[in-house]
Amino acid sequence: MGLLTGDLPDFPWDTLTPLAERARAYPGGIVDLSVGTPVDPTPELVREALAAAADSPGYPTTHGTPALRQAVVDWFARRRGVRGLDPAAVLPTVGSKELVAFLPSLLGLGAGDVVLHPAAAYPTYDVGARLAGATPEPTDDPAGRLAHGDDVRLVWLNSPGNPDGSVLGVDQLRAVVDAARSSAGPVVVASDECYAELAWDEPWASTGVPSILDPRVTGGDLTGLLAVYSLSKQSNLAGYRASFVVGDPALVARLLEVRKHAGMIVPGPVQAATTAALSDDEHVATQRAVYGRRRRVLRAAFESAGYAVDRSHAGLYLWVRPESGGQDSWATVADLAGLGILVAPGAFYGDAEHVRVALTASDQSIAEAAARLSGA
Ligand SMILES: Cc1ncc(COP(=O)(O)O)c(C=O)c1O
Repeated sequence: MGLLTGDLPDFPWDTLTPLAERARAYPGGIVDLSVGTPVDPTPELVREALAAAADSPGYPTTHGTPALRQAVVDWFARRRGVRGLDPAAVLPTVGSKELVAFLPSLLGLGAGDVVLHPAAAYPTYDVGARLAGATPEPTDDPAGRLAHGDDVRLVWLNSPGNPDGSVLGVDQLRAVVDAARSSAGPVVVASDECYAELAWDEPWASTGVPSILDPRVTGGDLTGLLAVYSLSKQSNLAGYRASFVVGDPALVARLLEVRKHAGMIVPGPVQAATTAALSDDEHVATQRAVYGRRRRVLRAAFESAGYAVDRSHAGLYLWVRPESGGQDSWATVADLAGLGILVAPGAFYGDAEHVRVALTASDQSIAEAAARLSGA
């Protein structure tokens, strides 16, 4: 029997509709902070690179152009402290979401194989395991879980984390890699790092967010390790589907082979645009400053309105709960919808208490949300 959609969780956003309607009815209308879709313009230099590559009659290469793969290698050396990656071990993806959804299948996982993912997590890790017929398992202690059973085949890490903005340090990453390497069976550790350029709190703001490919984590051996990265957030490119995976050369070669057969190819003009975006750090710094300002305004407004902001050290979200505690996340969503502010319940991500507040709204909308909270 084939996979039926009944095996997948309900698409959660549909369940938010009644509360979106309540927020829309607020005088002045809705301030939608429920989704993390960028709203600021795509940088001019990226648009120009896309347009310059618009004449594209032939098939693009699945592996990505040499220029794109070199740009990824250079970016890792410049921005992530990871030198000497092999350009052959870079593979562009059609946005990170498809890779997250299909990695278990591309790795050939199936019944009896366990896929670990963070307890409060982006829902696609779970979905990807289900699509492959494998078993998703939430845990915040993947190293401990790996030590208790040899059924884990894939570990998803997400640092900085969506939804809670937590960051994994070098020691935490290395503990997972060591546990994976000590496991009886083969284990892939894939780290989704798409918010890495958006660190707010120390030490990460100064040191940068460590990658799974950091030599202090890997000891120089990339076997079984993959870093997943996306330009959707750092460069306002969600509409382009510009992202890549990089890591263990043998593993990437296997992924490439399957993706070639399946036609999972990034369009040529998008490859050119991605190359341009990765080669320019200035637009990323500018965008980071914009989010930093919005975050300060929103955080202060929530805190003075009686909410606590937990973790949220990096990334595009505030992880918020009423300071007094104990209230279900849906009730908090309803309270805020009463102010015309729509946020996402932690329940979407496996957490009953918090709500996720996105920083991806215009300055005007953020100011409006802050004003409504201060009147509350
Ligand atoms: C943790 C995480 N991974 C992956 C993605 C997907 O990004 P994209 O498919 O735009 O590259 C998102 C998007 O919100 C995310 O939050």
